[in-house]
Amino acid sequence: MKAREIRPGIYWVGAIDWDRRLFDELIPLPDGTSYNSYLIQGSEKTALIDAVDPLMEHVLISRLDDLAVKQIDYLVANHAEQDHSGSIPAVLAKYPMAKVICSPRCKGLLIDLLHVPEDRITTVGDKESLSLGDRTLEFIHAAWVHWPETMLTYLREEKILFPCDLFGSHLATSDLYVSDEGRIFEAAKRYYAEIMMPFRTSIEKHLERLKGYKIELIAPSHGPVYNRPTFIIEAYRKWVLDPPENIVVLPYISMHGSTRQMVEYFVEALTNRGVTIKQFDLATVDIGKLAMALVDAATLVVGAPTTLVGPHPKVAYAVFLANVLRPKTRFASIIGSYGWGSQAKEQIINMIPNLKVELLEPVIVKGLPNEEDFKALDALASTIAQKHKSISEAAA
Ligand code: FEO
Repeated sequence: MKAREIRPGIYWVGAIDWDRRLFDELIPLPDGTSYNSYLIQGSEKTALIDAVDPLMEHVLISRLDDLAVKQIDYLVANHAEQDHSGSIPAVLAKYPMAKVICSPRCKGLLIDLLHVPEDRITTVGDKESLSLGDRTLEFIHAAWVHWPETMLTYLREEKILFPCDLFGSHLATSDLYVSDEGRIFEAAKRYYAEIMMPFRTSIEKHLERLKGYKIELIAPSHGPVYNRPTFIIEAYRKWVLDPPENIVVLPYISMHGSTRQMVEYFVEALTNRGVTIKQFDLATVDIGKLAMALVDAATLVVGAPTTLVGPHPKVAYAVFLANVLRPKTRFASIIGSYGWGSQAKEQIINMIPNLKVELLEPVIVKGLPNEEDFKALDALASTIAQKHKSISEAAA
């Protein structure tokens, strides 16, 4: 397989995983993914930036063979997760002089996760540089995007940033560069929602630091290369920093139709008050789309029938995910119906300690909702509309 030239002496040597449909046996990959690896040839030394998923190490090796690479001096491991590091042992076996370059925290992980020999690893500090002769790599420690050991690599002379997962997108495409920004925006937002959103606070600091670097290309380790870096940097700034929008996210499930009646009424009530609603039936949901909706939403309302006293397990799953994803949501509530008894409300509230939300009065009803219950849903919709207005007024 052929390497693809980005600049003279700089090549993409990654692998495209067209058919993968799950990551971590959890995250849907509707468009597949890629594991990007980049070869940089300097006048004196050659470096490989990140490796690929071990299932595709033969692809990486064949692209290196296409370039007839005789020696790799440095294998930069920006991140220890196996989709980028898993083929490091194969690269080290093929290139016995190669040294792994990584952060101190990454070193321990590579030894534990992959049994990389300690004497093959050299650690680098934040802002430390490494000369390839006429080219220079600078390492920017960037903890918690999304693991603690992560770093970014900056190629000074060409002003190319290799940020590994940061700014990435799960998208299998033969396009080396971004060709359709709308499509990439969706894929990168999905990636941000599923992987990066819990670490918004750390990412905010890293975005601030990156202002000090002139960047002409961003070459992530998933998805195509950004030849207009401001596109993805501005998208990240919006997702991380902007106040939440006038949106309610409503994941729900209904067993016998009562909670569904409440959801349908409530959606109308919110729509009539000018609130955007994103409704997700948890029986068939793509959790990636639910995560994406949480990126911008000001309010999360859970539609929860009761099963065996507590929330329906699929509701509990969605609430668990919302809690670990830590969106910037400001308000939360619960609507739903039960038959003979329920502690669903109390259990759901106890499941969201990570969400810094104001709880709006839930509407929990016995059996089919009646007129009083619909009035309570109207009142909840009015409260939400008012709360959202206060966010937009504060931001104005
Ligand atoms: Fe793409 Fe965190 O690995």
